[in-house]
Amino acid sequence: MINNSGYGSYGRFAEGELGDQLGMIDVNVRAVVELTGRLLPMLKARGGAIITVASTAAFQPTPYLATYGATKAFVLHWSLALNEELRGSGVRALALCPGPTTTEFFKRAGLKEGAVSDSLGQTTEEVVEEALQALVKGRPQVVTGWKNKVMTAVASKLPKPLVTRIGAKILEKYRLKQVGR
Ligand SMILES: NC(=O)c1ccc[n+]([C@@H]2O[C@H](COP(=O)([O-])OP(=O)(O)OC[C@H]3O[C@@H](n4cnc5c(N)ncnc54)[C@H](OP(=O)(O)O)[C@@H]3O)[C@@H](O)[C@H]2O)c1
Repeated sequence: MINNSGYGSYGRFAEGELGDQLGMIDVNVRAVVELTGRLLPMLKARGGAIITVASTAAFQPTPYLATYGATKAFVLHWSLALNEELRGSGVRALALCPGPTTTEFFKRAGLKEGAVSDSLGQTTEEVVEEALQALVKGRPQVVTGWKNKVMTAVASKLPKPLVTRIGAKILEKYRLKQVGR
């Protein structure tokens, strides 16, 4: 089972549409929990795996993408906890954490250019390849791409208020200025 559906929306929370933020929680969090809960009995009966697509955004608060980052922190922690609970059951849970990837995500999230051309970017094929390798190795979590691995390792070590401030500066420069709505 792959929990892949999700979207984000760049901008200041106070200036966005509240309905869009609440819909994001429904798709990125509620649907993941509900669909997994409903399908788990079937998965346990026949064995299998649940891949939940989190994000590098899960490793630190993400100003100007505040709700999105928080939904991804939720699914990362939830998937890791679920994997422990499922030990010995014949079902495993893998939290997949990609960074910027070439998809429709950035267009949907409100950036003018749509796709983001940045040096951190990966293709969907690269992300899928790393996800499947992690699944075969029985890993509970995979951050794809070496640059994303370094970035999330550093972000995880820094005090949360500091990493939030640094993140705000980076997102202001590389994302907020590109918002086209
Ligand atoms: N692209 C990135 O840089 C990146 C990085 C980290 C994590 N992710 C995560 O990767 C996952 C896949 O996103 P993507 O990058 O492939 O973006 P995408 O090309 O925009 O695809 C988003 C997917 O989510 C579905 N979806 C969006 N809103 C929905 C809604 N309200 N109800 C039901 N389905 C909905 C879309 O279905 P329809 O096509 O039917 O609308 C589509 O299948 C998401 O969870 C995203 O948060 C993406």
